[in-house]
Amino acid sequence: MNILITAGPTREYLDPVRFLSNRSTGKMGFAVAQAAVERGHPVTLVAGPVSLPTPPGVTRVDVVSAREMLAAIERCLPQCDALVMSAAVADWRPAQEAGAKLKKRAMSPLLQLVPNPDILQTLAPLKGRRVFVGFAAETGDPIEEAQRKLIDKGLDLIVANDVTVPGAGFAVDTNAVTLISAAPLGQVGSPKQPSLPPQVLPLQSKLDVGRVIVQWIEARCASLKG
Ligand code: C5P
Repeated sequence: MNILITAGPTREYLDPVRFLSNRSTGKMGFAVAQAAVERGHPVTLVAGPVSLPTPPGVTRVDVVSAREMLAAIERCLPQCDALVMSAAVADWRPAQEAGAKLKKRAMSPLLQLVPNPDILQTLAPLKGRRVFVGFAAETGDPIEEAQRKLIDKGLDLIVANDVTVPGAGFAVDTNAVTLISAAPLGQVGSPKQPSLPPQVLPLQSKLDVGRVIVQWIEARCASLKG
């Protein structure tokens, strides 16, 4: 299987030195990439600005903004069997990006923002028989919100976690996640698929979480082909 994985934050520049971003370090997506190459899958990793080494055997494409990430995925998706969107894509970007550093005295205290494209929703019409996996990082019980995202974004699987739980979320090497999968109704890509009961995984290394996700993808791909 060719697996396309995204990781890290995106940066949305206001001027050459200031940007909007988030706390993602890319560790979860890089762990999924490592787990996938371990299983012998060709992996393309589209990474936002992170300071992590590329796992050996992984083809890495570096991007900065959400729109660059979307463009990179659009280029790679036709060759791929599965997409794992673990990147923390910025939902908004400044309405304007100045070419030179803005002077403090010339800046307004109000920042005008415009929405970024939702990458998964944009790509949903191209899904076909591919397996799409998303992540839902929430503060507090993530299940309800993750189930909504699973359906809205037409995903096969969503990996939900509460980033406030110790040992889970940003900048650590462990994660405690819950897998919520869409029922395989045979209506591939249907955004109306109900979700199956959540599968709560214990706290474990991000690499082990990645291994569980890769095994899940292998099983779903096999059932789609069979
Ligand atoms: O930001 P949100 O919680 O909606 O993210 C859920 C999933 O959607 C993640 O897999 C993320 O990578 C993806 N996403 C996206 N495009 C965005 C924002 C998020 O594909 N603009």
